[in-house]
Amino acid sequence: MTKTSEHVTSPYFGSILEERLSRRGFVLGASAAALTASLPQLAAAAPSVPVQRAVRHAIAPTRADALVLAADLRSSLLIRAGDALFDGVDSLDGVAMKTLAWLDADAGKRQQQQFGTNNDALAFFPLDGRDDRGVLCVNHEYVMAELSFAELPKTSAERSRNREQWIKTHPQAVGWMQAAHGVSVIEIDRTENGWQVRKGAPLTRRITANTRMEISGPARGHNLMKTEDDPTGTTVFGTFANCAGGKTPWGTYLTAEENIQDYFGGARAWEQQSTDTATLEAHRRWPLRERSVYGWDFVESRFDVRAQPREALRYGWIVEIDPLDPNSVPRKRTALGRFCHEGANTHLTRDGRVAAYMGDDAKFEYVYKFVSRDRFDPANRAANLTLLDHGTLYVARFDADGRGEWLPLVHDENGPLNSRTGFADQGDVVIKCRAAADLLGATPMDRPEDVEPSPLTGHVYMALTKNDSREAGRKIFNGREVDFGPNAANPRPQNDFGHIVELIEAEDDAASTRFRWNLFLLAGDPRNPAAKFIADPAEIQKTALTRDDLYYAGFADRERVSPIACPDNIGFDPTGRLWIVTDADTRLIGNNGCYVVPTSGPERGLLQQLVSAPVGAEICGCEFTPDGRTLFLAIQHPGEGGSVDTPISNWPDGNGLPARSAVVAISREDGKPL
Ligand code: FEO
Ligand code: CA
Ligand code: CA
Repeated sequence: MTKTSEHVTSPYFGSILEERLSRRGFVLGASAAALTASLPQLAAAAPSVPVQRAVRHAIAPTRADALVLAADLRSSLLIRAGDALFDGVDSLDGVAMKTLAWLDADAGKRQQQQFGTNNDALAFFPLDGRDDRGVLCVNHEYVMAELSFAELPKTSAERSRNREQWIKTHPQAVGWMQAAHGVSVIEIDRTENGWQVRKGAPLTRRITANTRMEISGPARGHNLMKTEDDPTGTTVFGTFANCAGGKTPWGTYLTAEENIQDYFGGARAWEQQSTDTATLEAHRRWPLRERSVYGWDFVESRFDVRAQPREALRYGWIVEIDPLDPNSVPRKRTALGRFCHEGANTHLTRDGRVAAYMGDDAKFEYVYKFVSRDRFDPANRAANLTLLDHGTLYVARFDADGRGEWLPLVHDENGPLNSRTGFADQGDVVIKCRAAADLLGATPMDRPEDVEPSPLTGHVYMALTKNDSREAGRKIFNGREVDFGPNAANPRPQNDFGHIVELIEAEDDAASTRFRWNLFLLAGDPRNPAAKFIADPAEIQKTALTRDDLYYAGFADRERVSPIACPDNIGFDPTGRLWIVTDADTRLIGNNGCYVVPTSGPERGLLQQLVSAPVGAEICGCEFTPDGRTLFLAIQHPGEGGSVDTPISNWPDGNGLPARSAVVAISREDGKPL
């Protein structure tokens, strides 16, 4: 197969794949669907990176309530929250959303067949090796009550005060919210009229907060995973807080459970009266709330910590879903650790094993990597489906000299993680992952969001979204004492704008335990004359940086780069350029956006904005078709800061209708790769 892109001069991913696999003696013979789904991940260690060019048209930040695009781009709306996924069920009507009449006893049942709320991660799996037809997996991270339910109290303080009473008078809202969470698996194709959803197609599936799934890996059957509802500690009833995600080389989807602490209530009361020291210690580094955010605990006891103190330990994992088998049981892969999982992005090691890179998105938390024990076998998909159950989990330490080390999180009676330090087995290590990482001396980071290897080079990019608590001194935070001060890898105090670190594994091997790292981006606003624009990397560690100082991978012309705040999800196009979407306080620069930046060549660091989100939205996803001609973006929570009754956005429907999250497909007007 050959490429037609003017940008691409390298062999097509498939050729690279064949070359790599034959070099390593693999036998090609997997099903076309499984294989093509995995191509971007497999194209590691390419002999050369294509020429990377800056874009021709960029945009300036805006505050318009619209999806604003660079001049040579166009977009089409793929699907919105509440849209029907199956025949025989109605889509949620925008006019109907203006009252609460739609929230009847069947609302939850309907929602199980509709697209969920707050779309986040997107993963495209080609079908039949085609770029214009595939399965799209979409996370539904959470529900925003004020953007979903009309007639709520006006202020957040009032809403919080009245939550218990409101939930108890609208108990059907809990079932609806639970069905609006999780994952949608949909089939899509590109037609003359743009991308569209193939409603009711065979692989269509909804996974929700109530979908039965298996616990696998070292925590399966562990005492801390056992509850009244599941005395064996092997089966869990759903997934929620699904933030970013990732794909495996064998064509499965990884969905990341992130802010699960918001779903449970009664934690302080339970802590005060409980004598269950093992469970108390298991919660120490990831404290739960006294008042949950969503109020599910008012109608369902598994979300009340006093009734089910271990239920929350069954969340906060990476869940593997097979999008090609609608009857498959999702599996919580506990070998990958329990923390505020942002995503999991895979890459093959030199000897054919799989590495997954992951961030723990909370202030002063860590970056992790899992390396499988066994090799990926492209000829045996069934065998690959257990690869993520056996291997080594590592956490990163970043040293000031630009080196770093992956520290193994392995139970060992002769090592630091032993029964005397609270880790009697590997189950203890993965469940109390943050506490184990503390003992090894991992580096506390500025909220690690996506951590993703370039499919072309294997170089890993990590988005550190922000940390306004970065200041001098040691403090008690999330159950341990930690140094709040800047460190080499998190060099700015009061880090409101966030940054990106580039990590290069020793010998370019994802299995290495040593790496080099450097700063790739110190985000901010180059239009601010008080902000220092640094071009020489040596200057970064010599200078006392302020929150506003900037570094764009060494690019020297501040007039040509775009302002950017709070990088969140990232992705790569077929030429290896890094794409970034943001989740910032829009007072910093303007509405959130989508940006692209070359990672190599003379324009490395020339970061430019291509898309601006509607008012109140963050942008998630950032997923390309393999041909690079379509970029899917998830527009999450347009209208945040307003409500159904007093909206500040009407995107995407306009006409005074309530805002809702939606997925868009973006392409170039001339049809060429972006
Ligand atoms: Fe759900 Fe870390 O963003
Ligand atoms: Ca995110
Ligand atoms: Ca985010």
